Amino acid sequence: MNILVIDGHPDPAAERLCHVLATRYAEAATDAGHAVRRIDVHTLAIDFLRSQKEYEKTAAPAWAAAAQEDLLWSEHVLLVYPLWLGTMPALLKAFLEQVLRPDFAFDYKASDKAEARLKGRSARIVVTMGMPAVAYRWWFFAHSLKSLERNILKFTGMGPVRHTLLGGVAAADEAKRRSWFDAMAALGRQAR
Ligand SMILES: Cc1cc2nc3c(=O)[nH]c(=O)nc-3n(C[C@H](O)[C@H](O)[C@H](O)COP(=O)(O)O)c2cc1C
Repeated sequence: MNILVIDGHPDPAAERLCHVLATRYAEAATDAGHAVRRIDVHTLAIDFLRSQKEYEKTAAPAWAAAAQEDLLWSEHVLLVYPLWLGTMPALLKAFLEQVLRPDFAFDYKASDKAEARLKGRSARIVVTMGMPAVAYRWWFFAHSLKSLERNILKFTGMGPVRHTLLGGVAAADEAKRRSWFDAMAALGRQAR
């Protein structure tokens, strides 16, 4: 399978959990014979979109055009990010706004209803967080995750979209972290 790993952590520091999770997944997938491409959002010079005109009428910047090409190539997408103020970091949202342009991710012109352009791709979202994952799911109703799954990824046609929530990160001991790395490697091997 062609797998696109998107590491959405804004911080380049190598010790960030998200980077390690993305690497474990990518390495295991490669070892299992899958083709893997990786985008590290923190390496990109991302400008915020400022207007609908820019969104609809201007060409995507070169780095975003390359990411679009990677998305078209992919059959499965892994998206990893830390929960910041209850949702994805602003840099990752800016990345998605630049990449998921009309006419690339969806086509409004064909009919009144937007036509999804990225069908045939599955996805997994991995979110790390300080709070226990059960609190995010049941106290905060995982609103931001549901929005990403349903209103962004599925809106482009991707599916099925699955998720993994890793909570209590600061309190996790070595054994816990190792179990997360093993779980990511298992998912990478299965391209799930
Ligand atoms: C700016 C910022 C905002 C954060 N907001 C939340 C939050 O709303 N809920 C939460 O559970 N953890 C929050 N955290 C903790 C991070 O989610 C946690 O440190 C991260 O998932 C650990 O993974 P990492 O090592 O890859 O950064 C926040 C951290 C930062 C830096």
